[in-house]
Amino acid sequence: MPTLSNSLESGYRSERLADGGVDMFQVLKRMSRLAGEHRKNLTMAYIASFFEAVLEKIPVFMILYAFMRIAAGNLRTVDFWIVLSVVIGSLLASILLRYIRERNQSGSGYMIFARERLSLGEKIKRFPMSYFTEGNIGNLTAVITSDIKFIEEMGITQLTTITTSFITLFVTLIMLTFFNPYIALVMFCGCLLVAVVFHEIQKIAKRHSAFVQEQQQKTTSAVIEYIKGMQVIKAFHLVGDQQKRTNSRYRALSDAQFAFEKKFVVPAVVSDSIIALSIGAVIGILALSFQSGGLTLPVFLMLLIFSFEIFRPLSSLVNVSAEVRLMEACLDRYERVKNEKTIADTGTNREIKNFDIAFREVSFSYKDTPALQNISFHAQEKAMTALVGKSGSGKTTICNLISRFWDCQNGQILIGGIDIRELSFEQLISNISVVFQKVYLFNDTIYNNIAFGKINASREEIMEAARKARCYDFIMALPDGFDTMVGEGGATLSGGEKQRISIARAILKDAPIILLDEATASVDPDNEHFIQQAINELVAEKTLIVIAHKLTTIRNASQILVLDNGKIAESGTHDELLGKNGLYKKMWEKRAQAALGKWTVAMKQTAKEGTV
Ligand SMILES: Nc1ncnc2c1ncn2[C@@H]1O[C@H](COP(=O)(O)OP(=O)(O)OP(=O)(O)O)[C@@H](O)[C@H]1O
Ligand SMILES: [Mg+2]
Repeated sequence: MPTLSNSLESGYRSERLADGGVDMFQVLKRMSRLAGEHRKNLTMAYIASFFEAVLEKIPVFMILYAFMRIAAGNLRTVDFWIVLSVVIGSLLASILLRYIRERNQSGSGYMIFARERLSLGEKIKRFPMSYFTEGNIGNLTAVITSDIKFIEEMGITQLTTITTSFITLFVTLIMLTFFNPYIALVMFCGCLLVAVVFHEIQKIAKRHSAFVQEQQQKTTSAVIEYIKGMQVIKAFHLVGDQQKRTNSRYRALSDAQFAFEKKFVVPAVVSDSIIALSIGAVIGILALSFQSGGLTLPVFLMLLIFSFEIFRPLSSLVNVSAEVRLMEACLDRYERVKNEKTIADTGTNREIKNFDIAFREVSFSYKDTPALQNISFHAQEKAMTALVGKSGSGKTTICNLISRFWDCQNGQILIGGIDIRELSFEQLISNISVVFQKVYLFNDTIYNNIAFGKINASREEIMEAARKARCYDFIMALPDGFDTMVGEGGATLSGGEKQRISIARAILKDAPIILLDEATASVDPDNEHFIQQAINELVAEKTLIVIAHKLTTIRNASQILVLDNGKIAESGTHDELLGKNGLYKKMWEKRAQAALGKWTVAMKQTAKEGTV
């Protein structure tokens, strides 16, 4: 059974093996459930495939019949024509059946998974963000790329093989029971013994696969780490070291896989030997019958040829067993993702009278430590509410909760007086534009990156948004203008420029609420000025929540909330807060000192340059 050992290239296999025994019928049932409206096609393919296998045997029997007549010396012309017509008829019928099978089976997989992919895409959007931040991305990538692809491309064909093989074995066994019970008994014992070996293989696999799986995962992580960290690796001349580490992981994996495969050599030989011995026993029985005069020479010869056919379905089953196991693993993983809990979308589309945002005693923890504790505030529409505070104080978390990337554990968040959980997702998200702290630009043109904010936006709307976000001029200065590619392999834009493009995207969306999480990376004064202008552009008509790292940006905010360790330490306008002599004042003074420091350095520099 070479396929089992060969099929160990990937981690799924071992994952599946660890799960326990392969139940081929169980897989058939699961696939049939998944097929839904395409179930009819699959059933048709199975039926056609079975009759195809039966028809394949008919010419053999007809020729056997003709030989018997010849041996008896009474082959009539009519017999000849009957044999010839049946042989040609069965060949033609099997071509027709093959066509029916191919038509129903190929394409079914693609159609089933086109539907599944779409519904999975919809579902993923509803996963809580914790799903993506808790190390599930690798798993999700594997499901969408490899698992689904495997099932759609291989699964259906393999399932047809299984169904046909089982039915053919069963039918052959019944036929042989009437024809020659001894041969039937040999076949039955052969199948039984191979089943016992199967069972043993399952046990071995279960015992040893966890280690291979662990090696596989470690290797994948090492490779991802190596590629992701390439910039740092290059900068610190670590290429050699890091590569050695990755290489040693590859070696560990191949050693584990080799050791694992070796464990299957004996069972594989045993199962092949059982099949060979069974064929030998059948030939022995035939020879004895022939010797004792129970069989004529032509019948003996025909049955001799047929004896090799009897076990063919059994070999097919052994050969596909690895693929089926792999498929079960893929189905397991796929169904696990499909059954993943999503954020409850029980809300409805409601009429929102205004776009004020209110937090009422909101507490939230990502894991064990609270990120927000008892937060209450009111952000008025058409006004700017600014959030400031040390790194890790909970600013981004507030925005995450407003957009329902996570749900708060205690308290309520209201928009226009309505709890956001009572609004449908579509309605909530359509009313919010987010400019993220870590700007993500797609590997596409600048134009398309902005256009992403609104489906079917006109070119003029996109230009206008770029103008308002103060990024039009720098885009036009690029060699390809709005058609410049960004992202992987594209133009390198500064942090401030990227942020302005994402502000343009938000402006284009034209949602009544804008959450703007300023980039933490230091932005040059020009950019700071432009971002300031873009914000001013927005504030007139929107509920604007700005997380500011540079306090100058938010001097004019209607209210500033100062966060400290997940709590609101102070709130008020810029002037009020300076008057309070608290945390905000300290932050402001620190900032002023830093600016003064920069200014002094700059002055010294200019003075020095002046003397040269
Ligand atoms: N996805 C996450 N999983 C677990 N903990 C998180 C997650 N995101 C943030 N935290 C934690 O929650 C707390 C608040 O984080 P948050 O990102 O809201 O801070 P912040 O004020 O935006 O900081 P910064 O100024 O650095 O952006 C921190 O202790 C942070 O470590
Ligand atoms: Mg943040």
